Amino acid sequence: MSYLLSSDNFAKIGEFIYRKSGIYLEEAKHFDKLAKFIDKRAKDLNVDSFRKYFFKLRFEDKEGSEFQELMNGITVNETYFFREKEQFEVLANTILPELNKKMLSGKPLRILSSPCSTGEEPYSMILHILEEGTVVEQRDIEVIGIDIDSTVIAKAKSSKFTERSVHAIPKSILNRWFKKKALGYELSEDLHGTVDFKVVNVFDKAQMRALGKFDVIFSRNMLIYFDDASRKEVAMTFYDMLNPGGYVLLGHAEYMSRIVSVFNAKKIDSTLIYQK
Ligand SMILES: C[S@@+](CC[C@H](N)C(=O)[O-])C[C@H]1O[C@@H](n2cnc3c(N)ncnc32)[C@H](O)[C@@H]1O
Repeated sequence: MSYLLSSDNFAKIGEFIYRKSGIYLEEAKHFDKLAKFIDKRAKDLNVDSFRKYFFKLRFEDKEGSEFQELMNGITVNETYFFREKEQFEVLANTILPELNKKMLSGKPLRILSSPCSTGEEPYSMILHILEEGTVVEQRDIEVIGIDIDSTVIAKAKSSKFTERSVHAIPKSILNRWFKKKALGYELSEDLHGTVDFKVVNVFDKAQMRALGKFDVIFSRNMLIYFDDASRKEVAMTFYDMLNPGGYVLLGHAEYMSRIVSVFNAKKIDSTLIYQK
């Protein structure tokens, strides 16, 4: 198979992607996916070489729409409801009750799902918070989901989910909060709008700052796509965005101790949480 992309050019565009998104692509693993994507975009844009495509991407993309296409084409968006569910239990049963007790009355509890992909992670938080029941009666809870990929954010906003995405939800919860549709499931209308979804790049300091301060940040299964320097940068962004005493939770294969030492690690059952 011959592609417009060559090995030399892979290094060039790989460096560009890394600098703008933190995503570190390895030639051995990612060449075919990126090469297919570039061939498709070149066809859509009516250009016949990598050089012309790359020129458009770097110098003629004033609105950032070509960069957005690229991000939508290369990100890995795997997610499902109740993935690593112990973390949602710790959030609802331990972290939120603790923070709720300490916080001044009238202040909302703010939670960030970064990245949220198609929305299953922040809605899993909501479902666990509703099951726990007490904190949500006493305090406003704001949940915000962000992702660099605009197609997954559009899907998250649609409140529609596949059979596969809901497979780990216990039947009683599924029946209460979802409607079965011809294709998959739709979230009950009562839950529409309970998560605020936005397209945000975690490396864009201005976009991140505009989200405000949080009490809890989930950042699961994104840092694995970054190198050490990018992980450190994002971890420090999260640190700055947390209120004092707030928590970060990472994916099971991600360890804050290998990234930065500014958080205090705590273990609740088998779940590691990191406190500012
Ligand atoms: C595997 S999904 C993880 C979703 C969810 N947190 C989970 O664990 O199920 C990784 C997501 O990270 C997003 N992502 C990658 N780089 C990003 C960046 N620089 N800023 C924001 N999101 C990013 C991708 O678009 C993708 O949807």
